[in-house]
Amino acid sequence: MATITVANLKGGVGKSTTTINLATAAQMSGIQTAIIDVDPDQQAAAKWSDSRTAENPQVYSAVYSRLQQSITEAERYGAKLIFIDTAAFEQKILTSSIQLADLVLIPCRPTAQDVQYLTATTDIVAIHQKPAAIVLNQVEPRLPETDQARTLIASLGLSLSPMHLSKAVAYQRAIAAGLGVTEFEPTGKAAQEILSLLNWISRLLYLSPDIKVDNINKPIHRSSKI
Ligand SMILES: Nc1ncnc2c1ncn2[C@@H]1O[C@H](COP(=O)(O)OP(=O)(O)OP(=O)(O)O)[C@@H](O)[C@H]1O
Ligand SMILES: [Mg+2]
Repeated sequence: MATITVANLKGGVGKSTTTINLATAAQMSGIQTAIIDVDPDQQAAAKWSDSRTAENPQVYSAVYSRLQQSITEAERYGAKLIFIDTAAFEQKILTSSIQLADLVLIPCRPTAQDVQYLTATTDIVAIHQKPAAIVLNQVEPRLPETDQARTLIASLGLSLSPMHLSKAVAYQRAIAAGLGVTEFEPTGKAAQEILSLLNWISRLLYLSPDIKVDNINKPIHRSSKI
């Protein structure tokens, strides 16, 4: 069983979007997957799950102080991969979720403001010595800010996933329809991005060699531990 915490103390960066789409894609790839939603106010993943007819991935609402019990419950129901969707501006929730992670994914938009705020999250990741990677989200490749963000992340010594997620309306439409992008538009660009990211993660965590991916995002940086 592997646990991936999706974290960033900044709000609106794509934590829930990344969680929902990776979990749906993992489930479609044959990995029994669960989401644990510890964002007390928004419950974005839990609400998304309410609007779905499909049973999987299972979504649990949890309080951070009983996160280990929720993980154990998800595992008892067969989860082999668990995503924890965390809340913005909540250090205690972040810390508990990071402590229980095998890998921390940190979605971040390619703006100077978002990148400069990253250390609030990565400092906590470093204290707990967890493997982590930043995933650029809402990327518009042609904008100079995208490369500037990559350069700034590198200059901060932080590790960056070679896969990014583009700014695309499919991410919004899929969630509004109670789906992940791999269900909503299986051959679309957003679905390919999610599968590429999932494939990269699965190789990091030795999850499954069977995920089929068209590698549309070319590697940009080698990853290293934060
Ligand atoms: N790649 C993307 N393309 C287009 N829209 C996106 C993308 N990623 C996220 N969004 C939109 O940005 C908004 C914020 O995304 P999301 O809710 O996933 O962020 P969050 O980090 O979970 O926010 P919070 O901190 O409030 O929990 C949502 O409206 C979502 O639909
Ligand atoms: Mg959220």
